[in-house]
Amino acid sequence: MASGNEIRKAFLDYFARHQHTIVPSSPLVPANDPTLLFTNAGMVQFKNVFTGMEKRPYTQATTSQKCVRAGGKHNDLDNVGYTARHHTFFEMLGNFSFGDYFKERAIELAWNLVHKEFGLSKDRLWVTVYHEDEEALALWKQIAGLPEDRIVKIATSDNFWAMGDTGPCGPCSEIFFDHGPKIAGGPPGSPDADGDRYIEIWNLVFMQYEQRGPGDRVPLPRPSIDTGMGLERIAAVLQGRHDNYDTDLLRKLIEASAQATGVDPDGPQAVSHRVIADHLRASSFLIADGVLPSNEGRGYVLRRIMRRGMRHAHMLGAREPLMHRLVPALTEMMGPTYQELVRAEPLIRQTLELEETRFKETLERGLKLLDEEMGRIGTDAPLPGEVAFKLYDTFGFPIDLTQDVLRGRGRTVDTAGFEAAMQRQKAEARKAWAGSGEQATEAVWFEIREEAGATEFLGYETDTAEGRVVAIVKGGQRVDEAKAGEDALIVLGQTPFYAESGGQTGDAGTMSAPGVKVTVSDAQKKAGELHVHVSHIDQGTVRVGDALALAIDPARRDCIRANHSATHLLHAALRRRLGGHVTQKGSLVGADGFRFDFSHPTPLSDADLRTVVDEVNAQVRINTPVETRLMTPEKAIEAGAMALFGEKYGDEVRVLAMGRDLTDDGGAKPYSVELCGGTHVRRTGDIGAFTVLGQSAVAAGVRRIEAATGAGALQHFAREHEVLQQITRSFNAPAEEVPGRIAALLDERRKLEREVSELRVKLATGGGGGGAAPAAREVNGVRFATRKLDGVPAKDLRGLADAVKGEIGSGVVAIVSVSEGKAALVVAVSDDLTGKVSAVDLVRAGSAALGGKGGGGRPDFAQAGGPDGDKAEEALAAIEQAIGQRAAA
Ligand code: ALA
Repeated sequence: MASGNEIRKAFLDYFARHQHTIVPSSPLVPANDPTLLFTNAGMVQFKNVFTGMEKRPYTQATTSQKCVRAGGKHNDLDNVGYTARHHTFFEMLGNFSFGDYFKERAIELAWNLVHKEFGLSKDRLWVTVYHEDEEALALWKQIAGLPEDRIVKIATSDNFWAMGDTGPCGPCSEIFFDHGPKIAGGPPGSPDADGDRYIEIWNLVFMQYEQRGPGDRVPLPRPSIDTGMGLERIAAVLQGRHDNYDTDLLRKLIEASAQATGVDPDGPQAVSHRVIADHLRASSFLIADGVLPSNEGRGYVLRRIMRRGMRHAHMLGAREPLMHRLVPALTEMMGPTYQELVRAEPLIRQTLELEETRFKETLERGLKLLDEEMGRIGTDAPLPGEVAFKLYDTFGFPIDLTQDVLRGRGRTVDTAGFEAAMQRQKAEARKAWAGSGEQATEAVWFEIREEAGATEFLGYETDTAEGRVVAIVKGGQRVDEAKAGEDALIVLGQTPFYAESGGQTGDAGTMSAPGVKVTVSDAQKKAGELHVHVSHIDQGTVRVGDALALAIDPARRDCIRANHSATHLLHAALRRRLGGHVTQKGSLVGADGFRFDFSHPTPLSDADLRTVVDEVNAQVRINTPVETRLMTPEKAIEAGAMALFGEKYGDEVRVLAMGRDLTDDGGAKPYSVELCGGTHVRRTGDIGAFTVLGQSAVAAGVRRIEAATGAGALQHFAREHEVLQQITRSFNAPAEEVPGRIAALLDERRKLEREVSELRVKLATGGGGGGAAPAAREVNGVRFATRKLDGVPAKDLRGLADAVKGEIGSGVVAIVSVSEGKAALVVAVSDDLTGKVSAVDLVRAGSAALGGKGGGGRPDFAQAGGPDGDKAEEALAAIEQAIGQRAAA
């Protein structure tokens, strides 16, 4: 029986033997499509190759593509766990021809693989063709020798495959496997085709057209092939199973879940194990591709999947977070094929554990509420939307989780009521905001924008320009003028001042006219499109309607440019070094340096940092021009720009391409392509130099790098160099010998400290000879030895007390040491006396005399301290008295 890994390999090898290039799976977050939530088919990464827009060095390819179908149009989430063949995450095996072979060869390749290589018997196989596609029908008869009654014509969209409303499309032909009469269901095209007996295992799409818009369909430059075979389904067939969850691909995870919970994998709670296995795969792969749980967009789909899995872990009785413990079973099986899993494993484990820990805090209370509500309403009534909303809002239950809970009891939710409650809450939030002070000041900016329109930004091309004042705001109010000595916020029709956004700091500079001088310390963006100049009037009066000469501080801006461009290079370098799970999580670009936050679980090693810094500097040195282009968002994505789903992009976006991919043979590919509205250097060489100042963690799974460029970087080097020089001078040794010298010094210091401490003990016990033991007096039959010392550190007193105790045999030892006016006190009691007198009580009595608070330890040894060093005698007397009382008792 072939394993899932072997079947994947057999598929890829088969097509490689037939001149196909094996291409790695693309990430689950599609790089080339801002409208698609997740990669959901093998052809997604080739979309532009089909239409001829993108060229690749091959015309035949084969892949095993990671796919997620949850959220968005294809949403299988609700069914997962309950059916034999639904997954949120699955692998699609495919072969592709880009204007190379077409229908006949595609059918021949597919038939030879399933029938000859995989050995599936002809009488278990059925195929469908699009009802108009006589050619495909004839080919199936001719190549496969299938009788006509096993080739079913289908007239619906089932056999005309389209990626979406636009994109490549064409008629398709599907291969079905008959799992036999013991399973319910009819052949394709029959009324009960939805049953599980006849399972589609492979879809061959004859890509012929490109849908450009509604009713606008054009032929592709050359007919092409796109196929998709679900690895889990073919594995079930080849492993003699009917259920995908019985294949090794999922069974190993189910067993790991069963082992971790001690619940029978095949018993009445099998569904929960299945859900956990599936959701573990989807969550782990999504996190590896840079998605982190959040409350919107992709992150929310991930959170829903995770929480649904976690609820099932709870049903299995798991009291501690469970899912993160199953990650090693997954990486062990799939890591060799998908290295990103291995690279991101710590991030995956941390993210799962954190989410489950948090969700556990509310899960139980939410379930209790749900139970109470279900008890209250009639047996058939759906759960009221208000309750579902409360579960969502207060307890973090995504609606599909509530539905999943109720599904187990054959109940439903009033989803319309849920939506209505959600809308009501949003409306209330809006109302509350409208009444707040924040809204009142913001209203000024919306009013100005309505009247004057957006500020035109000229700063990409120029550092100086003339602008007309359209509004002045002082103390939150619009005014007509601002006089010398006053602060004001000034809006002009156009400006070269960049207003803070996208992490880039606003520009500073000056504004002037004859007799007027204004200092601008910052520029902020308001109402989305207004550049507001934070100004101080140094001379004259500025009035609405005035024309002013505007000049940004060019040196400051140059530093900002260099820093901003360096963030792009750093981002690209981090992704290359650490993997595709690295995505930007925030940045702050100033004139003196920048910080860059990104998803990654662990500190970068010295080697990682070194590589990243070297790579960025190599890009700086090749000094290629930075290309900026304005494009529609679609075109930008086609050009390979990194975009974030859920971000709002305008009609046109700026696309920044910089550096050169030095691993690319042709050398034509840029090193970094990003959508960005910031200001950038003209050539990478303008960055001058790049260095990392430090790294830290900002949140679970998010790291921060602080860095500097140009003069900032050189200053950093100079400072470090100065420090090094001081050190080499002190050692009077060349720099490379210094680390060894420091290590030797530290070693020696440790040795000396030990010696000093030993000597102190000796000194205090009277020079080491047994005869010089401190005089011990008798207090009610207890021997009591005391010592008063100067300057012996508290940490050395214990050894001393033990030594004295050893010499007096049975008794109590109290030692006070005074340094810098403060007292440290220890009391030791020999074991035979601890039943009578406790060192803790005694030390407390002594510490009170020293003005200290308490102290602590065990009956045989305790320590304390106090601010009144001159009360040492009193402390010892207090201890003596306490011994007297206790010994007498
Ligand atoms: N693109 C085709 C599918 O997803 C193969 O079914």
